Amino acid sequence: MAKSKISKLSILTEFDVYNSAKDLDKKDAELLLAAQKMVKTAHAPYSEFHVGAAVLLENGKIVTGNNQENAAYPSGLCAERVAIFYASAQYPNVAVKAVAVAVKSKNIVISEPLSPCGGCRQVIAEYENMFEKPIRIIMSGEKGQIYIAKSIESLLPLMFSKKYL
Ligand code: THU
Repeated sequence: MAKSKISKLSILTEFDVYNSAKDLDKKDAELLLAAQKMVKTAHAPYSEFHVGAAVLLENGKIVTGNNQENAAYPSGLCAERVAIFYASAQYPNVAVKAVAVAVKSKNIVISEPLSPCGGCRQVIAEYENMFEKPIRIIMSGEKGQIYIAKSIESLLPLMFSKKYL
């Protein structure tokens, strides 16, 4: 240990784990089903990794999206961001309560829950911080367990936010 180090910081992160969608609350199951439906219409011819997302708003509306890829690769966007940006554009003053994510790959079976990429975590954090209300994140694979994070803080500890600006 370097002489000047005074301690080690450990961060505990927690998820609720469910065996299948059948075990979820009715609202969570409905949101996950909406995400699963969106997997089919993803535009993902390059990665063949199809992702669906569904966003539940405080007004009860569900807004969905899926990944949209592009021949110029970086121009595409993840499913979570497509859904959450669309939700914010349509309902700018309505808090986001939950985001569900579903996936289907053409090449491998995804048997563990897909958790949003780093960029999507930062975007979800923006809306959590904007409304100062936690966003539940419901993560699923093609089969296997489902993880639920109670807040983006579980996925993005030490996040950068507007408090620094
Ligand atoms: N992707 C998502 O839509 N969400 C994620 O959480 C991870 C990755 C997309 C981006 C790209 O179209 C494909 O999956 C492969 O990375």
